[in-house]
Amino acid sequence: MTTEAEQDRVRERIAAELEAVRRRSEGLTVHALEDEELLSQHSPLMSPLVWDYAHVGNYEEQWLLRAAAGREALRPDIDVLYDAFENARADRVELPLLRPEEARAYNARVRRGVLDSLERVPLEEGAGLGAGGFVYNMVIQHEHQHDETMLATHQLRTGDPVLPDGAPDAPDAVPPGPEEVLVPAGPFTMGTTADPWAYDNERPAHTVHLPAYRIGARPVSNAEHMAFIDAGGYDDPRWWTGEGWNWRRERGAAAPAFWFRDGGRWMRRRFGRIEPVPAEEPVQHVSFHEAQAHARWAGARLPTEAEWEKAARWDPATGRSRRFPWGEEDPDERHANLGQRRLRPSAAGAFPEGASPLGVRQLIGDVWEWTSTVFHGYPGFTAFPYREYSEVFFDDGYRVLRGGSWATDPTATRGTFRNWDHPVRRQIFSGFRLARDAAPDEGGVGA
Ligand code: AVJ
Ligand code: FE
Repeated sequence: MTTEAEQDRVRERIAAELEAVRRRSEGLTVHALEDEELLSQHSPLMSPLVWDYAHVGNYEEQWLLRAAAGREALRPDIDVLYDAFENARADRVELPLLRPEEARAYNARVRRGVLDSLERVPLEEGAGLGAGGFVYNMVIQHEHQHDETMLATHQLRTGDPVLPDGAPDAPDAVPPGPEEVLVPAGPFTMGTTADPWAYDNERPAHTVHLPAYRIGARPVSNAEHMAFIDAGGYDDPRWWTGEGWNWRRERGAAAPAFWFRDGGRWMRRRFGRIEPVPAEEPVQHVSFHEAQAHARWAGARLPTEAEWEKAARWDPATGRSRRFPWGEEDPDERHANLGQRRLRPSAAGAFPEGASPLGVRQLIGDVWEWTSTVFHGYPGFTAFPYREYSEVFFDDGYRVLRGGSWATDPTATRGTFRNWDHPVRRQIFSGFRLARDAAPDEGGVGA
């Protein structure tokens, strides 16, 4: 990242990604719904959609115009409205928010300034915020993350469908493969130091030693989760932690969110469409507690995030860790279901070309996977560029999710990417895979 030509290539990519993410955001907001629905609250768990939309523009103003390009503030008066820490999601509907057309004009004005100044912001190594394009990559990912959040709002919204379904023409091919993969004991490199897309919480790269373990070659399916329900899993405290059982009782949860029974059949509501629950898809809209209980019922457990990452990145042939399970190339349709190409996961076990060297499939895309790990910083963590992105969440209240969902943009996930949420959350596109300890006689180093 030192030559001018390299910096120009990074600038071209940044401009294209900024354009693409804005098209996506507008497809979920001003092009999807009337003002009234953009300004209203669809769930106390979520912001009004027009809040997310102006928040990404304000974040872009703060980081790309003011911090990176040194420009004067355009609208310092609205910063407080769009500060996520000043206003709880449930209260945002009461704020004097920009109306959709005002937000659109503001976001466009910010964007013009960003494209104008892009040429003059240094991107070379050691350039701080701009190094390798970091601050631009951060802002692009931020907007995509809010787009995924807006999709969760759309899923909670009641009313006629407004988003294109993008259902596949043919069922996803699921070539036969192992159910479970043995990961041998030994060290691997977790996290990254050099990736210009990586957040502070993915840094620094460090060595982690793990004992041998087994991990599911695909996420748990709806059919398997129906078996857990049929076996009385939601009514048997043996499978739940104390905290999980309290949640299940208070909530009255008896199935994943958005499922309901119609006679003998499980149905679901998906972006305003009612349909039978497809047996072959990975289960989604489950909380950490449901995932944990299912795993215990199945005689297994959830993987730790280190186990997830070793299964996703470790290449036994070289001993090194890859950026993605399939290698270093950016994801495309052959590897993973990402980027809201369709509004649902693909069949569990699909995408053999996206498998890791050990043969584990679908680690990237389809559903975020709950891990058993509580969200904290890696050894040597330093907050960058601000404490509120990650560090303030290192308070034992969040579990780590890995891999990205069908709603995640390819720029906003990778083998090192860490997401986190409260263990009770299930409006997110969350599922899980199983893991278990290896028997003492298998998979040891040199065994
Ligand atoms: C990383 C998805 C947990 O949505 O709360 C958005 C991302 N941070 N704005 C979130 C984020 C600031 C964050 N997650
Ligand atoms: Fe945000």
